Amino acid sequence: MEVLLLSQSRYSEWWRRSTVYQVYPKSFNDTTGSGTGDIRGLTAKLHYLQELGIDIVWLQPVYVSPQHDNGYDVADYENINPDFGTMEDFDELVGELHKRGMKLMTDIVVNHTSTEHEWFKQAVSGRDNPYRDYYIWRDPAPGGGLPNNWQSKFGGPAWQLDDASGQYYLTLFDKTQADLNWENPQVRQAVNEMMLFWARKGVDGFRMDVINLISKDQRFPDDDGSVPPGDGRKFYTDGPRVHEYIRGMYEEVFGRYEMVTVGEMSSTTLEHCIRYSNPEEREFSMTFNFHHLKVDYKGGQKWELMPYDFEALKRLFTQWQTGMQHGGGWNALFFNNHDQPRALSRFTDDDLYRAESAKLLATTLHGMQGTPYVYQGEEIGMPNPKWNNIDEFRDIESLNMYRILQAQGKSPETALSILQERSRDNSRTPMQWDESPNAGFTTGTPWLKVDERYPDINVQKELEQPDSILHHYRKLIALRKEHAVFTEGVFSRLDEAHPEVFAYSRTGEGETLIVVSNFSSKDITFRFRDAEWTGLNSAGKSKLLVSNTAADPVLTQELQLSPYASYMWLIGN
Ligand code: GLC
Repeated sequence: MEVLLLSQSRYSEWWRRSTVYQVYPKSFNDTTGSGTGDIRGLTAKLHYLQELGIDIVWLQPVYVSPQHDNGYDVADYENINPDFGTMEDFDELVGELHKRGMKLMTDIVVNHTSTEHEWFKQAVSGRDNPYRDYYIWRDPAPGGGLPNNWQSKFGGPAWQLDDASGQYYLTLFDKTQADLNWENPQVRQAVNEMMLFWARKGVDGFRMDVINLISKDQRFPDDDGSVPPGDGRKFYTDGPRVHEYIRGMYEEVFGRYEMVTVGEMSSTTLEHCIRYSNPEEREFSMTFNFHHLKVDYKGGQKWELMPYDFEALKRLFTQWQTGMQHGGGWNALFFNNHDQPRALSRFTDDDLYRAESAKLLATTLHGMQGTPYVYQGEEIGMPNPKWNNIDEFRDIESLNMYRILQAQGKSPETALSILQERSRDNSRTPMQWDESPNAGFTTGTPWLKVDERYPDINVQKELEQPDSILHHYRKLIALRKEHAVFTEGVFSRLDEAHPEVFAYSRTGEGETLIVVSNFSSKDITFRFRDAEWTGLNSAGKSKLLVSNTAADPVLTQELQLSPYASYMWLIGN
């Protein structure tokens, strides 16, 4: 009895049954003809998100910003960038969401500010300025030059020289994104006050940008390369005081307003993510990790292409499903976001089997434990745009890397072919609403080219077809609310290193979920192992919940799977 009570309370929070929709406002819906999406454009589409079954909208940065990194370079945390609208528009969005019983999660970017932020302007004005210590300054190395060998995540050194003072400031991302000095209690207090400002406005939650990078090793040693590149940098990832800082935010802000929070964890570990998201630690509700999205990085390098390692993808999901459940942590489940190429193009077939593939990815992910995130356009199967011209690209990281790859000796054609696969612009193309010009996104000139396939791939079409990708998502989102097994079931992998199939079960109280997905373009046979089949068989009668083919197969020990076929069954009494 005690065990049962414990397990019930462990999963009682509402957001464990929720689905989040991620909005990249610049590319969502433009109501002014400026070519850039805006807040009112989102408000105008809330009915669409409500019908999809969305509980939480994650709105990416709309704060005042020079937009070098599309809003992740914040110049004023408490005002809206005029390109996106006004504070009245924001308040209206909050009101309209709440009217519909939906919640708003905003993006909080506090590892760094824009160098155009007033704090930074003060900081560079002189060494004695009170804001100097808001940022991280170092003298040149003894012989001159960079203070250490840390690299920016967007390429090049992580230090920028301030000519006036002769000191360097740290920038882990673009040179216009200066890292804040979290050792300074005034920084921590200013961040809390800013978050309280939004909490009082009625914001229900926060997505915390690269939050596991905020605590740097104060010795600032050279990176010794002992941690593989994809695993993050040793001296500032999950750093020495990071849990203390996050707990501080919880006590002052998240806990007081009962907020739902998700931390974006760059190159983190399972152990840290358990701590970040186990409610007893009083930190975040859940975490994003990226290990499963590095399975096609050659030698851990994002800008080196290789076919993805399917076995690694399955192994990583399994490790995180099992590990987070054991440790009492909670996963944010995702295949897509604004920093990743479209999973549809990356892991499956975005052409011949586009609809099957999009549904397969959805079923595979939504059957797992965690809170699923749907990134705009994913629910209608938007693919990478496959641009053949560098002039189409806008992303600062992509443009930096285009130069760096050529400086490393790659031809312009090779550099472009790498961008085609890896650029963040792949997922940032405007949302495709209908078949009118520019996919109904804008009446002006879109800031980023609309994918040419929009006459075939758009929301209007998807709404009209009962068996569309969009309707598939609706079904999955609704099922999570109907069956406790989605939230609570224990994960077991069932495919024993099958080269094409990912199969798993989720075992809950009186209900078991089975997911079987063929990640290949071949017709194949999949057979459950005898012992596992006996276990499944004795769990009760099975019912097909979700399918992406015309067939409605009964769950049998041996299954015939057509290309990209994916099924979900529920076993119960
Ligand atoms: C996060 C954001 C990304 C941004 C970076 C720096 O990874 O998702 O878009 O460029 O942080 O803020």
